Amino acid sequence: MTQRWVAGEYGRVGAFVHQLAGGVVEWLAPQQGERILDLGCGDGQLTARLAAAGAVVTGVDASVEMIAAARLHGITVDHAYAELLPYSDASFDAVFSNAALHWVRNQDAMMTEVRRVLRPEGRFVAEMGGQGNIAAIRVALMAVLARHGYADAEDGVNYYATPEVYGRRLTHHGFKVERIELIPRPTPLGEGGMAAWLRTFRRGVLEVLPETLRETVVNEACALLEPALRDEDGNWVADYVRLRFIARAK
Ligand code: BEZ
Repeated sequence: MTQRWVAGEYGRVGAFVHQLAGGVVEWLAPQQGERILDLGCGDGQLTARLAAAGAVVTGVDASVEMIAAARLHGITVDHAYAELLPYSDASFDAVFSNAALHWVRNQDAMMTEVRRVLRPEGRFVAEMGGQGNIAAIRVALMAVLARHGYADAEDGVNYYATPEVYGRRLTHHGFKVERIELIPRPTPLGEGGMAAWLRTFRRGVLEVLPETLRETVVNEACALLEPALRDEDGNWVADYVRLRFIARAK
């Protein structure tokens, strides 16, 4: 499946993604004049924040839709996949990423590229989904998909590692891991609740199904999730778990 993004919808339903990213930006601590690559910059909200801090920022994203939205911030944004970056060796002082790396299919190719475009001692600072991320959502969705004959549709959509596994992978690719943590972050969902989340963040999975089945799957998944993720006031909270790290190029 290929995840397709609709920038306006992502901006509305996924606003929490950049609103809750203060912690990883603090870990990055962008400095005036630093060359920073924002890998998987999405609609550019955070890229613009790094630029406002005085960094010389380049955004890169695999979604043409998202790039168009990011460019509205007046920042430099390129279209490329994380596994094949269009930059020369040692072009950046830091590579930053928020809520994007769990979408990358080939983690080893991505790390090779990040290491290549970083200068020696440059830092790779990122936050992504970690082990256990959206576990309840995934189990509910898989159960409903299996009931309708699409048991595999959710397989391999995202990659969620433990700090131990991801730390080893980073080390293998020539990074010194300075800090890596798993951070549980129950995340209140805004208007539209879980149904809107599924339609936005599982668009690629839903698009594998016949159109007539998509809303049935959304509604059945919401019904299964309601006792676990919806409170008595009707508010939905997604069971996010983040993996956050600082690693330095050796
Ligand atoms: C996440 O940021 O963890 C995430 C985003 C979209 C879908 C699944 C997980």
